[in-house]
Amino acid sequence: MMTAADFDYVSAFVRDMAAIVLEPRREYLVESRMQTLARRENLPTVGALVAKLRDGPNHGLHRKVVDAMTTSETSFFRDLPQFDALRKTILPELLTRHAQEQQLNFWCGAASTGQEPYSVLLLLADDFPELLKWDLKFVATDLCGELIARARAGRYNQLEVNRGLPATMLGRHFTRQGAEWELKAELRGRVDFRELNLAQNWPSLPSLDLVFLRNVLVYFDGETQRAILAKVRRLLRPGGYLLLGETETALNVDDAFERVALANTACYRVRAA
Ligand SMILES: C[S@@+](CC[C@H](N)C(=O)[O-])C[C@H]1O[C@@H](n2cnc3c(N)ncnc32)[C@H](O)[C@@H]1O
Repeated sequence: MMTAADFDYVSAFVRDMAAIVLEPRREYLVESRMQTLARRENLPTVGALVAKLRDGPNHGLHRKVVDAMTTSETSFFRDLPQFDALRKTILPELLTRHAQEQQLNFWCGAASTGQEPYSVLLLLADDFPELLKWDLKFVATDLCGELIARARAGRYNQLEVNRGLPATMLGRHFTRQGAEWELKAELRGRVDFRELNLAQNWPSLPSLDLVFLRNVLVYFDGETQRAILAKVRRLLRPGGYLLLGETETALNVDDAFERVALANTACYRVRAA
């Protein structure tokens, strides 16, 4: 078992570095992730790993712990009703509103291994191909550099493509590379993948029409959630939309947002002044 002091030490710096809250009641999960990392670092025990962490901040080990604590769980077309809402309501609306300048900016703020931004692109390719001729900027970011590298590569194994990706899309937009499937370069190259820690200062982002911050706010305390939503609010263009995970809400976090009910789901936009 991890000692209480070790748990407190780890949760304090994980909170400082990434604003991620490690719940004491989920100690077993923290412990098992620490065990995996200790093994990878050739350290005999979790205690030895924490001792090395306490020893000094300059070996990149703290960062590895933060990466180990983030859950990268994702899949293609996760929370399908949101993609139906994109197809039926949100994208047609944006298409009409911006028909003149033909310019749109999208951002996925917790892109993990890329299934989320690529699902949006696949939807555009199949249902709104004219949008791909517009000036469309699509930025996708994540805290974890390893995940971003995987996302950029756009390669998925059979298990990953079996989770949510329609077979027709797989056939049309992916090519087989050994045991994996690779998204074709013309779509892959449209997403600008970068590292960004939502809990620290953000590098400059364009003003945005569509923001995906799905299944990431849950890891943060209330204060961090408020700070993040306030920044998103300032980046959203008039009429822009924010999409959160199924279990997340902007209500009671930032009153400037209103909930827009859509078939079997919801999204958020900034209230009119
Ligand atoms: C559960 S995944 C969600 C992925 C995707 N948005 C989805 O809904 O399928 C959470 C992601 O949030 C990222 N994350 C955690 N803390 C973060 C932070 N402080 N800044 C940016 N990303 C963070 C993790 O690396 C992970 O890839």
